[in-house]
Amino acid sequence: MRHSRILGIGHYVPPRVLTNHDLEALMDTSDEWIRQRTGIEERRVVEPGVPTSELAFQAAQNALAHAQVEAKDVDLIVVATLSPDYYFPGVGVLLQDRLGAREIPALDIRQQCSGFVYGLSIADQYIRTGTYERVLVVGAEVQSAGLDYTTRGRDLAVIFGDGAAAVVLGPSEEPGVISVHLHSQGKYFDMLWLEKPGSQSAPTITAHDLEEGRHFPHMEGQTVFKHATRRFAEAIHEVLSHNGTKVEDIDLFFFHQANLRIIDAISKMIGIPPEKSFNNLQRYGNTTAASIPLCMSEAVEQGRLQRGQLVCPVAFGSGFTWGSALIRW
Ligand code: UT7
Repeated sequence: MRHSRILGIGHYVPPRVLTNHDLEALMDTSDEWIRQRTGIEERRVVEPGVPTSELAFQAAQNALAHAQVEAKDVDLIVVATLSPDYYFPGVGVLLQDRLGAREIPALDIRQQCSGFVYGLSIADQYIRTGTYERVLVVGAEVQSAGLDYTTRGRDLAVIFGDGAAAVVLGPSEEPGVISVHLHSQGKYFDMLWLEKPGSQSAPTITAHDLEEGRHFPHMEGQTVFKHATRRFAEAIHEVLSHNGTKVEDIDLFFFHQANLRIIDAISKMIGIPPEKSFNNLQRYGNTTAASIPLCMSEAVEQGRLQRGQLVCPVAFGSGFTWGSALIRW
């Protein structure tokens, strides 16, 4: 039986730090509010003009080096992002070119905060079926270019950060990716969304839309919070019961880094002790598709995540989309 496993991982964050105190100078907010409501202390932001594909490239190179795989040996690129360089074409093809990869397929996927778990599933399926040998999955975001750093946009501007992380997957006799479980519920598409530009109107964006700030993301924070808590818990129960595993069997949980209050609430609900989850949103905020692999990559760097351990990534985000996985590292 052919399985897939993660051969290597890497990340990249831009060097510029934007602290809660820096935000206080831009909008009516406070370090205390942001810490209490989210757990975030600072986030990284690019210098203006640095695109998502650049962060994706840096992270991909680090992951390839860690996996000891050359770019020319990659068979498929999957990029998860909600902040592509262009409306089209996607970041995947830009990355194919930057890496100097062969003329391989390059996908962009649009599952926001669940993007990495969805990407993992795609890579796993292509490898299991024997279609491809080496798949690069990248989560990359430049959120800062599209946020409203005024009091009007403060609910989202304080949460999101820029960053990227990538994994390289390859075939294995023993299961690495053991199972992946994916869900969506489009009914709530406008609870966390970016309305404009979009093909539901012609032209796709107007001067009036810009005045009204419709080109900035919008979130119904409390509704998303409520659904996130429920779906995170369901996704963990699903992956554990599917595999006949218990919380005690898992070495580390990797939650999508949306809000420390959500992670704490679920951990209490399910009985996950604090030492079994790896969080870094204090330093990076919510980096959407990059958040889970960014945690995993830092956990590897710090020696917290080691070969042979059993880990559970779990995500929820815009769409709504959510999912979980069980991985033997
Ligand atoms: O990544 C995908 C999944 N995302 C999530 O799961 C995020 C889920 N939602 C959340 O994490 C939280 O809803 C937030 C952190 C976004 C907001 O926290 P909250 O405790 O739900 O606050 P709220 O939206 O109920 O707002 C409370 C107050 C409001 O003022 P009033 O109406 O009580 O006077 C807001 O206007 O806080 C105000 N507020 C702020 N104050 C200072 C909103 N944003 C800010 C801010 N600084 N940045």
